[in-house]
Amino acid sequence: MIPGLASARGLVLSPSMTAEPSSPVDPRGEVVIRTIAMPADANANGDIFGGWLFSQMDLGGAVLARSVSHSRVVTVSVEAMNFVTPVNVGDIVTCYARLEQIGRSSMKIAIEAWVKRGTDQAEHHVTHGRFTYVAIDAAGKPHPVKGEPAA
Ligand SMILES: CC(C)(COP(=O)(O)OP(=O)(O)OC[C@H]1O[C@@H](n2cnc3c(N)ncnc32)[C@H](O)[C@@H]1OP(=O)(O)O)[C@@H](O)C(=O)NCCC(=O)NCCS
Repeated sequence: MIPGLASARGLVLSPSMTAEPSSPVDPRGEVVIRTIAMPADANANGDIFGGWLFSQMDLGGAVLARSVSHSRVVTVSVEAMNFVTPVNVGDIVTCYARLEQIGRSSMKIAIEAWVKRGTDQAEHHVTHGRFTYVAIDAAGKPHPVKGEPAA
């Protein structure tokens, strides 16, 4: 069973519990994507294009959502998206995801992106957001997320 699944199902967190600090001290969640930012992903300023980072986060969240739901999923909304620090070409980018809430067919997943730069072994927080995924059947219609009901 996915850690946190039972506690997340149906749980509505209060705003104070869901508020994202602008700069968390350490990554929160499980690693869902790790890759290197390449020159082809840079924008006109030479930094990494925000859309590329966004897509990595979306893919990473989908990895966790599929694992939770044992199902195909689609992204239905994104909220609380914050770009805190630019990503540079050559940075090692890691996306961390954690399940915040499960509805009937939907899953809210908080995703943070962190980078390692040059020879610095420390990770630096660059982006966070909350993505909602919906479990869908073969016809593309929502269906209930499988898993253990809340106690
Ligand atoms: C996601 C989708 C299947 C939902 O279909 P729907 O007919 O609206 O289904 P419902 O109204 O029953 O909603 C299904 C769930 O999605 C949630 N939902 C729908 N719109 C939402 C939104 N904007 N934000 C958050 N949750 C949303 C509902 O609350 C519901 O959650 P629950 O089952 O946990 O209670 C449909 O809207 C869709 O296919 N959207 C396109 C998805 C897509 O292409 N994503 C990629 C974009 S690049």
